[in-house]
Amino acid sequence: MERVGILIVSYGSREAAMVDAFMRSQEYKVDLYIADRQKNPFNAKRAKEHVVIPDLNVESIYKFVERHKEKIDFGIVGPEKPIIDGIRDLIEGNLRIPMICPTKEYALERSKVMQRRLFQEVVPKVNPRFKVFDPKEYKSLNEVKRDLFRWLDELNNKVAVKPDAPAAGKGVGVWGDHFNTREELLEHFLANFNVGPVIVEEKIEGEESSFQAFCDGKHLVPLPETRDYKRAFDGDRGPNTGGMGTYKDKGEILPFMRIEDWEEEKRIVETIFRKLRGDGSNPCLRGVPFYEAFIHTGKGPMILENNSRPGDPEIIPILALLKDDFVDICYRMIEGTLTRVDIDKKAAVLIYKVPPKYGGYIDVFPHLVNRSEMGTPIILDEAEKLRSKYGDNIRIYPGSMEIREDGNLYALSSRAVCVLGIAEDIQSAREIAMEGIKAIKGGALWYRTDIASREHIERSIKHMEELRRKAW
Ligand code: GLY
Repeated sequence: MERVGILIVSYGSREAAMVDAFMRSQEYKVDLYIADRQKNPFNAKRAKEHVVIPDLNVESIYKFVERHKEKIDFGIVGPEKPIIDGIRDLIEGNLRIPMICPTKEYALERSKVMQRRLFQEVVPKVNPRFKVFDPKEYKSLNEVKRDLFRWLDELNNKVAVKPDAPAAGKGVGVWGDHFNTREELLEHFLANFNVGPVIVEEKIEGEESSFQAFCDGKHLVPLPETRDYKRAFDGDRGPNTGGMGTYKDKGEILPFMRIEDWEEEKRIVETIFRKLRGDGSNPCLRGVPFYEAFIHTGKGPMILENNSRPGDPEIIPILALLKDDFVDICYRMIEGTLTRVDIDKKAAVLIYKVPPKYGGYIDVFPHLVNRSEMGTPIILDEAEKLRSKYGDNIRIYPGSMEIREDGNLYALSSRAVCVLGIAEDIQSAREIAMEGIKAIKGGALWYRTDIASREHIERSIKHMEELRRKAW
């Protein structure tokens, strides 16, 4: 068996799923070199070399890679920060180790303003109306307030307010969801405007889906659609989070989508890709340069935003369902020969368990938190045992969680651990994920109980039917 050394720059559960996919290779003996945000128990156990770099700064990652450069054949990066900070440019430029992620120049995620302007140029019909408020262009608060309120008049207050710089979805505020008065909107706007440019764009009514594609610089290989659960609490309430869960149906689209929506999404992203690629190939776009949040309206999909990395959790079900060897897929991305990817036609549901402070849960639902359990070790054993019942159809991926010297696992501040259920249909996959999530004990962790629930999906289907009816 051929030996391969792989660098993984890891943030949380998404990269534990990559570790799992690599370790399942049937064709390669894989040695993993992992630069991790925390001592993730799943990763630390499987890595040949594991280093903790809490802020994932590119200089420390580079030093780690330099120490092991003779043994590393290629690297892959999950989180946005090192990509935006130019990790690929640094490692490829100096060490000649191919990296799977876009170069700094093509990390569109670094600026929402840049994204909107690009979409306006290449796919204007699916770009919501927007206006950029740049602090450099205003001399006084009154001036910006006047312009902002004029824009709000024009859009009838129905807007989304987004900081230019990435905030993992958390800086986004939406009229009717996060604020209901202009005063509240202004407060949110100014909190972001004091830091840098802010986009105020038309709020689009619809249902969201996540589009992801592998890219070798020459070809775009779209992956099945997934649904992200951004809001913290059941019923899509509370602040935005990194994502509390996701689901994927058996095929390529979600239950509320039509095949035309999927075809249109592919056309849109292919148009953006061609613009950035030019003729031939642009290897700077390698990785998952286009993970788009789409919103489905009665007239078709529109673009909410572009990320230059795989989604967390959206890529996890895809990785778990790959029929092709993930090492091979990576080599093909590097060679520029990735024209298709074979994915098992199964449904999958993923649920995250998170600590009490995450999403402000402890403040909104103080009575539901078992305070004596806060900070206690997380016990995964019972959930792990479910593997004897479900085999590979259950996956447990620790994220913001560390193994300490006492041998116990402790949750940190972000999404602690996820359980993925795989089955022939969404509801059966959900049952597996739910059983797994309930079997995880300790740390006073909590989770959304409506991820991929029948009611939630039915609501999305009905909502789309209504929007389509209104549109015609
Ligand atoms: N699930 C949202 C994200 O990865 O940004």
